[in-house]
Amino acid sequence: MNAPLQNDRFLRALRREPVDRTPVWLMRQAGRYLPEYRATRQRAGSFLAMAKNPEIACEVTLQPLQRFDLDAAILFSDILTIPDAMGLGLHFVDGEGPKFERPVRSHDDIARLAVPDMETDLRYVMDAVRVIRRELDGKVPLIGFSGSPWTIACYMIEGRGGSDFGRIKAMALNDPAALHRLLGVVTDAVIAYLSAQRAAGAQALQVFDTWGGVLSPAMYREFSLRYLKRIASELQRGDGAERTPPSNGLSVAHTPLILFGKGNGPYLSELADTGTDAVGVDWTVSLHGACLRTQGKVALQGNLDPATLYASPGTIRREVRTALDSYAKGNGGSRDGHVFNLGHGMAPDMDPEHVRVLVDEVHAASRERRLG
Ligand code: CP3
Repeated sequence: MNAPLQNDRFLRALRREPVDRTPVWLMRQAGRYLPEYRATRQRAGSFLAMAKNPEIACEVTLQPLQRFDLDAAILFSDILTIPDAMGLGLHFVDGEGPKFERPVRSHDDIARLAVPDMETDLRYVMDAVRVIRRELDGKVPLIGFSGSPWTIACYMIEGRGGSDFGRIKAMALNDPAALHRLLGVVTDAVIAYLSAQRAAGAQALQVFDTWGGVLSPAMYREFSLRYLKRIASELQRGDGAERTPPSNGLSVAHTPLILFGKGNGPYLSELADTGTDAVGVDWTVSLHGACLRTQGKVALQGNLDPATLYASPGTIRREVRTALDSYAKGNGGSRDGHVFNLGHGMAPDMDPEHVRVLVDEVHAASRERRLG
């Protein structure tokens, strides 16, 4: 049995319930900007060695929480664990990012893809979730995650990060049926993966659609949004909990889903209709505008430009207050239903002291404003 939750601000905000202050966590909050992360990485040997060892994954998941007053922890892992478990041979080349030894190049490659077994092939991920839940001891909720099918497919087909997506876009145009077959298997795997993380103890789930924004609107709807919809509807169906728990509080709590997408601004109203609980937005939309487009159907997460962390503490505080107020303005004056975050992940050269300024300002300013 896991300990009762001591800080439920994040889960309450995802349900759009009132909180005393706006909860905050940061994408990539565990990582190379922390000297203690770099020390653990040195000891473990590599990023993959860290991610594949549940005790070490737990250690680095907790590192940012020991320093900062964050309202959620995120599983230390990667979106590329699924294709790795499918046999593509993931490795990281220093300074070049992720690479696959056996990228998907033919119809035969696609036909061979199968959904990995979650408690054998990806057992290290589920074990990490269990160890982290135990060690968190109810301090804050744990977020599990996956890449979106489109974003995972980008890496499977291009074979590496940092590409211009020429291969996968050519496939979408020349051989859409083959790409849909691939996206279908990956979507089955993502649903099984998120369900297994939830069963292992993840208290919220986030899907990272990092590369959805590189598509034209028609292609976004066909190759990304369609599969996000399937994930949202199948996860809700398999939740085993009511979406709105009865007031006796005895039912199993619903596990909220967040759909984050870089460049998803044009699609916010469609994302709000997928059945997801929350949508994560980047800094190219204002929170005010995002509220108007989502009409109170979902909670919103975001959306400070990560580069704000390079600015001076005074400027960081000002930008935090601007984002908080932009949300309230769009949400009819209410600050409920907002989870503060960056619009994308942190970079290795960011100053941990600036993270502290950001987190503390979110809490102080959002509490002060609620007290009016
Ligand atoms: O947010 C967190 O703290 C949780 C851990 C997390 C990692 N990757 C750890 C990681 C999460 C949520 C991810 C997701 C992820 N991985 C995404 C989607 C999120 C996003 O940023 O849009 C993507 C596209 C990947 C694929 C990937 N993995 C890339 C492009 C890289 C960067 C390679 C590099 O050298 O910068 C990784 C490696 C990776 N994943 C690191 C971390 C902390 C850096 C590892 C290291 O070198 O120590």
